[in-house]
Amino acid sequence: MNSSGIGIAITGCGSATPTQIMTNDDLTHLVDTSDEWIHARTGISRRHLASSEIGLAELSAQAAAEAIKRAQLTPSEIDLIILATSTPDDLFGSAAKVQSLLGASNAVAFDLTAACSGFVFALVTAAQFIRTGVYQRVVVIGADILSRWVDWSDRSTCVLFGDGAGAVVCQGTSDHDNLLSFELYSDGEQHDCLNLSYQGQKKSLKDNLTISQGTYEPITMNGRDVYRFAVAKVPEVIEKALFRANLNADDLDWLILHQANQRILDAVAQRLKIPSEKVISNLGEYGNTSAASIPLAFDEAVREGKIKTGDVIATSGFGAGLTWGAAIFVWGI
Ligand code: ACO
Repeated sequence: MNSSGIGIAITGCGSATPTQIMTNDDLTHLVDTSDEWIHARTGISRRHLASSEIGLAELSAQAAAEAIKRAQLTPSEIDLIILATSTPDDLFGSAAKVQSLLGASNAVAFDLTAACSGFVFALVTAAQFIRTGVYQRVVVIGADILSRWVDWSDRSTCVLFGDGAGAVVCQGTSDHDNLLSFELYSDGEQHDCLNLSYQGQKKSLKDNLTISQGTYEPITMNGRDVYRFAVAKVPEVIEKALFRANLNADDLDWLILHQANQRILDAVAQRLKIPSEKVISNLGEYGNTSAASIPLAFDEAVREGKIKTGDVIATSGFGAGLTWGAAIFVWGI
């Protein structure tokens, strides 16, 4: 138990994915690639892509509604909603729209951006509000629609990403703390490895006064650098979080990493000596869904009955920024 005497329990989870599916074979009609290459290099077979009719807020609200129901709460009992996303419907934020769609009229809501690390960063942020006693029932959502921002003519990135949303409910507890530890990091020196950048043109408004106007350009990525970063930093951050929790890798029931690439999942598990049966992977079906990937994989594993109440889980997100982080938690009250 931490010094404030207030702990955290993760009591509900939910997820939502679009119904449209793009297979590896479908992609061969867009770019020079093959099912064999994509599957061997990434483990991805399909990805779910949001139609123009569905927004990030709707997908997020679907996942959150399920998580709230599973936690046996009603939307009006929620105090705070944190939406981790890099692809809001509105640059001013989409969390308040999610609050309205849920009917969570007593909740304050805000967006948080940390790319593929967003869910872990948001979970830790939620924990701070709970541990200080400010809020008791918090919904943490990870959601992204990267298909809006992928260059569908760039084979080195378009094969990787899919769309989705996942959510958990965190509640304050008085006699135990199920968030056992966390570690968060950023390294802006490597910012150029992975970007979805604003690109503007100079526009003059009057003599000696220019501003910039433009839009966000599609995702660019140095895949090899990101791969090397992930394989080096993710085992390290999990080891640090395990140390803080006074646990060994053997004590873990499950490892849920950001679903970026099966080869990254395998390399991290191997380095931590965690057997493959304990590694949750749903990359084959969804690809890299950015901030959604961890809560989506978590929710599926809970619904499939793999993850059970009381199981100890290590999770790690990593991605643009660069950002990375890990959390060790126990599922359920
Ligand atoms: N189909 C066929 N060939 C391809 C494709 C494709 N889709 N993409 C690239 N190639 C080719 C390249 O052109 C290259 O050809 P060349 O040797 O003739 O030049 C060859 O395949 C090898 O390319 P590499 O980039 O070296 O392939 P690599 O084995 O590194 O795999 C990949 C690429 C899958 C992108 C890998 O580097 C990776 O997974 N990186 C990490 C990405 C990641 O984890 N991102 C997470 C964060 S995402 C976020 O934060 C939003």
